[in-house]
Amino acid sequence: MSGSSFRYETIARELSDAIRQGTYPPGSRMPSVRQICRQYEVSLGTALLAFRVLEHAGLLSARPKSGFYVQSQTFAETDGEPVPSRPPPEPTPVTGGRLTFSVLSTFRDPKLLRLGTTATPSEDLLPLKALGRILSGVARRDYSATATYGDPAGHLGLRAQIARRIAEAGCYCSPDEIVITSGCQESTVLSLSAVAQAGDTIAIESPTFYGILHAIETLGMRALEVPTHPREGVDLDALETLIQQQVIKACVLMPSCQNPLGASMSTQNKRRLMALLAEANIPLIEDDALGELTFTRPRPKAAKAFDETGNALYCGSFSKTLGPGYRLGWIVPGRHWESVVYLKAVTNVHAPILSQVMLAEFLGGGGYTRCINRAVRLYQQRAGVMRQWIRDFFPIGTRVTNPECGFLLWVELPSEINGVELYRRSLTKGIGIAPGIIFSPTDSYIHHIRLSCAGIADAVEAQQAVQIVGRIAKDMLE
Ligand SMILES: Cc1ncc(COP(=O)(O)O)c(C=O)c1O
Repeated sequence: MSGSSFRYETIARELSDAIRQGTYPPGSRMPSVRQICRQYEVSLGTALLAFRVLEHAGLLSARPKSGFYVQSQTFAETDGEPVPSRPPPEPTPVTGGRLTFSVLSTFRDPKLLRLGTTATPSEDLLPLKALGRILSGVARRDYSATATYGDPAGHLGLRAQIARRIAEAGCYCSPDEIVITSGCQESTVLSLSAVAQAGDTIAIESPTFYGILHAIETLGMRALEVPTHPREGVDLDALETLIQQQVIKACVLMPSCQNPLGASMSTQNKRRLMALLAEANIPLIEDDALGELTFTRPRPKAAKAFDETGNALYCGSFSKTLGPGYRLGWIVPGRHWESVVYLKAVTNVHAPILSQVMLAEFLGGGGYTRCINRAVRLYQQRAGVMRQWIRDFFPIGTRVTNPECGFLLWVELPSEINGVELYRRSLTKGIGIAPGIIFSPTDSYIHHIRLSCAGIADAVEAQQAVQIVGRIAKDMLE
């Protein structure tokens, strides 16, 4: 099983595949627990656990003194990934920002168990102490740097470090081509402001990160949702058709680690995307905030790597790898450099200087790669474990993504279950989940929720929380 290190999960997965393929048809008796022990060379306890997992998932039922039997419902219903989206092919005004903001504000309760609230990285996987030590050194040594205004494009030392990092994503540029921002959210707003105006249509993935919707809404633009596959990312055939039918002013996409889907486009598709947009002269705003968290190392190329016209604005951030509180991100704006630097300067002059100096020093020290590699390994494991819990505890018919990056899981619930109601009821139990509706300007994701495995360092507590949400979901079916 992808992303999991437990033997029982592998066995459960292989048996469920066999059920799906019809090796064990509905109503038939499964091999005995002892047969499975022999076949996989595992203990009785491990084999039994695998059967229990399948029983929880509603695939098997135990009959006393007789063994486990295949249920009449098929696994395809419970195990599938969410179906690719099919949003309306028309641009729509974005109006849900206030609602999303009020949902997000409920997540500020410190007692809340965060199971998918904001896409916050796991605290135990951030190098907080090392950064703190550097920060106090910088504050003692470089405090006079705060006495004057700096370059709106940002601290050159940090830009040099970013240029090195993004070369790993195939984006080769000089430090002079980079603008430091106060995080990727600002990068998106500045980029959109640089290439489009109020009333323009912006193509986005469906579902998409709510921060992108906020940016489009506050700038008075319209969103055009493009069908998006839960693993492969935006549907390029659909995008090509929409480009022919609509006047699209820009695209804001997450080609490498999509929030909330965890989808990543193939290198081939990124190349095709860039060719398509170059031909139509449409700028791409590439949100790569989560791009460093791809499970395969070295990380795949960004779409910007295939930008031959300078029309892509490549946006990134340290929020998911070093901590959102530093509020540092960047843009490589290509041919939109002048506009972006101007907008940055008139918005807030430049990013805070001491945190820029501090991050430059940390990145120069070489600990960053080690820290990301460790985080990625653990996120992969946690995503595998959490998927299994969802299968164990959520109702039959639930679908969940199998991400190849990041720490987010997108869950499609059976159509009888309203994701907002599940969010509300979970909140009363002290558990925060993100309702699917905040990821779209239309009502497309009423039956969805987003979960995050970032905060499941305490596995027992997290498992109980998933179990509680699953039970609430099952109750809602009755
Ligand atoms: C895809 C994506 N883009 C942008 C952001 C905003 O990042 P930042 O904290 O750097 O502003 C987030 C934060 O969750 C995100 O998930």
